[in-house]
Amino acid sequence: MASGQSSFVQKHLTLIMANKLATVAVVLVGYMVAKLVYAVFLSPTKHIPGSLLDKTIGVRSGLSVLRGNKMHFAADQHRQYGPLVEISPGVMSCNSTTAAKTVYGSHQWRKSHFYSDFADFNGVSSLFSEVKPERAQILRRAFLPAFSRANLVAMAPNIFNHIHKFLDKLDEFERAGKPLEAYKWTRYLTFEVVTDVGFGGEYDMISSGELNHPFVMDFDGSSSWGLVKTVFPFASMVPDWMMGKKLADWRASELRTLKHAQGGLSQWRHHKQVGKTANRVDILQRLIEHGEKNPKEKLSEQELETEIMEIMLAGGDTTATTVTYGLYELALNQDVQEKLRACLRAEMPDSADVTLKHLEAVPYLDWTVKEMLRTHPTLPSLLERVVPAGGAQIAGYHVPGGSVVGMSAWSMNKSPKVFSDPLAFQPERWEKPTPEMAANMLTFSTGPRGCVGQNLAIVQTRIHIGTILRNFTVKLHPETTPEIMRTVDNFQGKPAQDRVLLYFRRTP
Ligand code: HEM
Repeated sequence: MASGQSSFVQKHLTLIMANKLATVAVVLVGYMVAKLVYAVFLSPTKHIPGSLLDKTIGVRSGLSVLRGNKMHFAADQHRQYGPLVEISPGVMSCNSTTAAKTVYGSHQWRKSHFYSDFADFNGVSSLFSEVKPERAQILRRAFLPAFSRANLVAMAPNIFNHIHKFLDKLDEFERAGKPLEAYKWTRYLTFEVVTDVGFGGEYDMISSGELNHPFVMDFDGSSSWGLVKTVFPFASMVPDWMMGKKLADWRASELRTLKHAQGGLSQWRHHKQVGKTANRVDILQRLIEHGEKNPKEKLSEQELETEIMEIMLAGGDTTATTVTYGLYELALNQDVQEKLRACLRAEMPDSADVTLKHLEAVPYLDWTVKEMLRTHPTLPSLLERVVPAGGAQIAGYHVPGGSVVGMSAWSMNKSPKVFSDPLAFQPERWEKPTPEMAANMLTFSTGPRGCVGQNLAIVQTRIHIGTILRNFTVKLHPETTPEIMRTVDNFQGKPAQDRVLLYFRRTP
């Protein structure tokens, strides 16, 4: 081709490209202007306070999820705009102390699609992720017998088996003169417990002493992938080669976690067949029994696998984080620790006396556990619900039907209007709680979709904290600073750094 011709073609190609870019820019600007006009003049939530940017596009809210600080982002907006604030188009955060009953009090306020994006596994919704109230009610009926008082009492010996192994580990660290990485080891403890009482799982993580156990690594990757899906709901359709190694590995972790669940179910069936455990107390046993008694509500194999995934997701890290922050608070507040130990020893003079019955006879333990749950709620983020058709009145505003409202335990549990000196760790405040304190403590949420496993979580935390503190003194390692313990909001809260060092010394 002659050089005159080629420069003619190049010139035209450049012009076409420039035109295309200009078209894209015009379309984008037009789109943003349309969104802005909608937010200011047309949106049914235009009267609700919030920054114009957040009311127009949800970029800051999405980024806060990816950065692990959504609860702080929402709290900042409340400081500026009051108890109801639009944090992304059609999504409101609320921290009014009179709103929890309205938002969480009935099935009419359905869970938002956040839950299905985050925690549907293998295309099947679990009780946690199910947004349809009809199916959620069936699943809750199946779950409830597992958390009855009688079943929890029957589970207690299993929980004690694991905590005794944990105490041996504390002795081992003390003999070596080393601090314990408390978050990692309490995760092993609670994973062992939840897989055991969940489906008779036999993960021996504490004795094997393996930090960064593959099961836990897969689990972490799987949770991170869930969070990515809430910001980019179409992420599942993107091929591996387009998403980079880390994201592809997170996605693969979800499949590997599902394999753990499938393995758990087939091991359970095998144990049952060979009569290995005749008097089963685990949650899976109760779910299957429910199906046998109510054939119309029987769960399929795939549904059972999903529920096993959920039990691990909802019941492991939540309790581990509570116990870790609880031990940290006791290390910081030595006066509370001394008082708790004195109460435990008065009730249980000999370490062999430690039983659920004795632990439950110590009111100061009950108040301490409540205060741990209040100060460090492990689902600290906004729990989103869809406003029913017809709308609702919240914090002095009419909120239209179809929009989304969420409240955060992080804010509600520390409301100065309800809890005096809210940042202080004071178990005594639970001696005579006001009705407002009970209504605004949202650690387990509340109402028909509140935590179905909360009785197990409380029994387990009492056993862990009571047994450890009856026998050991906890002290801070100098590296365990408030910055290490800063809570990151990955929907499940966790310390900013995994390395939470604490010293444990057996108390004579
Ligand atoms: C300290 C420990 C725990 C905390 C702080 C906690 C917190 C919560 C919260 C706040 C919710 C409600 C979420 C929402 O409304 O959007 C929830 C739901 C749920 N939790 Fe827990 N949880 C804990 C332990 C457990 C345990 C041990 C299990 C079972 C083994 C469990 C199983 C569930 C399930 C299945 C749901 C979904 C209930 C439904 O949607 O109807 N949780 N949990």
